[in-house]
Amino acid sequence: MGACQALHPHSQKPSSPSTNSSNPGYFLSKPVCAWLACGFLSLALLHLLCCSPAGTQQEVFSALLQHFNTSSASVSSVPEGGGQSCDYSEGQWVWAPGHARRYNATECNVKDSENCVRNGRPDTGYLDWRWQPAAAGCELPAFDAAAFLAAVRGKHVAFVGDSMARNQAESLVCLLGASAFPSRLVYRDADPGVFQFRRWAFPSHGVTVSVYWAPFLARATGRVDDYHLPYSSVYLDTLAERWSAEADTMDVAVVSAGHWFLKWAMFYNGSEVLGVHMLPESNHTEIGFVSPFREVIRKSVDRLLIGSGGGGDARGDRTVVLATISPSHFEKAWDDPTTCARKGPYKDEEKEVDGEAAELRRVVKEEASAAAARSDGGATTIKVLDVTKLATMRPDGHPGAYMHRDPFAPGKPEKMLNDCLHSCLPGPVDTFNEILLQLLTKR
Ligand SMILES: *[C@@H]1O[C@H](CO)[C@@H](O)[C@H](O)[C@H]1NC(C)=O
Ligand SMILES: *[C@@H]1O[C@H](CO)[C@@H](O)[C@H](O)[C@H]1NC(C)=O
Ligand SMILES: *[C@@H]1O[C@H](CO)[C@@H](O)[C@H](O)[C@H]1NC(C)=O
Ligand SMILES: *[C@@H]1O[C@H](CO)[C@@H](O)[C@H](O)[C@H]1NC(C)=O
Repeated sequence: MGACQALHPHSQKPSSPSTNSSNPGYFLSKPVCAWLACGFLSLALLHLLCCSPAGTQQEVFSALLQHFNTSSASVSSVPEGGGQSCDYSEGQWVWAPGHARRYNATECNVKDSENCVRNGRPDTGYLDWRWQPAAAGCELPAFDAAAFLAAVRGKHVAFVGDSMARNQAESLVCLLGASAFPSRLVYRDADPGVFQFRRWAFPSHGVTVSVYWAPFLARATGRVDDYHLPYSSVYLDTLAERWSAEADTMDVAVVSAGHWFLKWAMFYNGSEVLGVHMLPESNHTEIGFVSPFREVIRKSVDRLLIGSGGGGDARGDRTVVLATISPSHFEKAWDDPTTCARKGPYKDEEKEVDGEAAELRRVVKEEASAAAARSDGGATTIKVLDVTKLATMRPDGHPGAYMHRDPFAPGKPEKMLNDCLHSCLPGPVDTFNEILLQLLTKR
C-alpha cells in the first residue's frame, strides 16, 4: 500500500530498540497480524471515504492563506556569509514567524499524508521557525529557487533511498515550483497513489529532479514490497536495480536511507545468509544494522564515483550528497493518536542525538570521508547533508495523526496510524533543501 511505505509501526524506545514489546519480531502473532491488517485496511478506507467534505476546512485555510509567505521561496534576504562554507549541522531553531510558510503543498501535489495543512492540522506554529547554525558568522539563507536552478542548470538531480529521500524531493519540487519557474511531472508510477519513482522537469533551466525509491539501496524483497510480510530480505552484494542502472545519468545524487535497516531484516551475500536483524526466531546470527548499512553506503558511493561505475565520465562532474538520518519521534505507542502531537521544537539540551540515529549518522560521515579519499582528484565531489541534529529537535514537524484528513472529525479514536517519521510539507524538511543549496553552491 503506497500510503504506508516505510511507515513503521515503531514504538520508539531508543534505549532498547530490539526488545521492544510492541515490535512483534520475526513471527508476528496472529492477533498482531490481524490488528495490523485491520489498521492498514481502515487507513485505506479512511483515505477513500473521508477525503471529500472540504467546507469545514475553509476557515482554517483562509486564516493560513493570509500568513503564507510566498516571497520567501524566491527571495533570499539573509546575508550570504561571504561565500565561505558553514557548518550547518549544529545549531538551534529560532522563532521566526512566517519563515517556513514557503508554499501551498496542494499546488505541488505532495503525497496526501504529508499535506498537513490540507489535512486540517489546526496548529501552525511549526511553520514559524528557522535554523540558526551555531558556527560564528554563519547564517542559513532562505531557499532561493533561482539560485538553485542556476546551480544545477542542465543537470539531473536524483534523490535515492527510502521515503525520506522522497519526502525531501517533494519538498524541493514545491520550493522550486513556488517560484516563477514552472515545472511539469514527466514520469510517475502507474498507480498515481504510489510515490516510488517520479521525475519532474524544469524546462527554463533544463533541470530534472527524480526520485528513486530503494529503501535499502541494495536489492531487497519481502516486506519492502508487501507490508504484511514479517521481514525484508536484503542482498548486500547487489544494488537495487533501477537507481544503479541509471546512476550514470545523475549529476547530483542525494542518497538518504537508514530507517529500514533498523527493522526486521535478513541480510544476504548472494545466496548465503550473513545474518539477521531483529529476527531471533530465525536461528540466524543477529548482526545488527551498522555493518549492513555501512556495506550498502560504501557500495552505493562506489557506484556513484565517476570512473568506477563505468561510462559515467561523459557527463562531467558529479556531486554525491550523503544525507544523515532524520529520526522519528514516536513518544508513545505507535498507534496512540497523540504519539507525536508536540507543537514546537525541543528546547536547547532537551534532546540529544543518540542511540541508533547517532550510529547511522556516524557511519555516513565516516563513509563520506573514506569515499572522498578514494575519489581524491577525481570528478566526484562527496558532501554530507548532516540534518540529524536539526531533525532531532523537531518532534512537531511530522504529520502525526494529520496524515489522515480531519482525523478527529468523527471523535477522538483510541488508536490510529500516525506518521511521526516524515516531515509535513511545508515543514522542517524544507530546511534540508536550504542546506543542500548551500552545499551545491559553496566549495
Ligand atoms: C492551496 O491551494 C489549493 C488549490 O489551489 C486551495 O484550494 C487552497 O485553499 C490553498 N490553501 C492555502 C492554505 O492557501
Ligand atoms: C517573508 O519571508 C521573508 C524572507 O524570508 C522575510 O524577510 C519576511 O519577514 C517574511 N514575512 C513574513 C510576514 O513573515
Ligand atoms: C560476499 O562474497 C564474496 C565472494 O564469496 C566475498 O568476496 C565478499 O567479501 C562477501 N561479502 C560480504 C559482505 O561478506
Ligand atoms: C530454530 O531452532 C529451534 C530449536 O532448535 C526450532 O524449534 C525452530 O523450528 C527453529 N526455527 C527456524 C525458523 O528454523
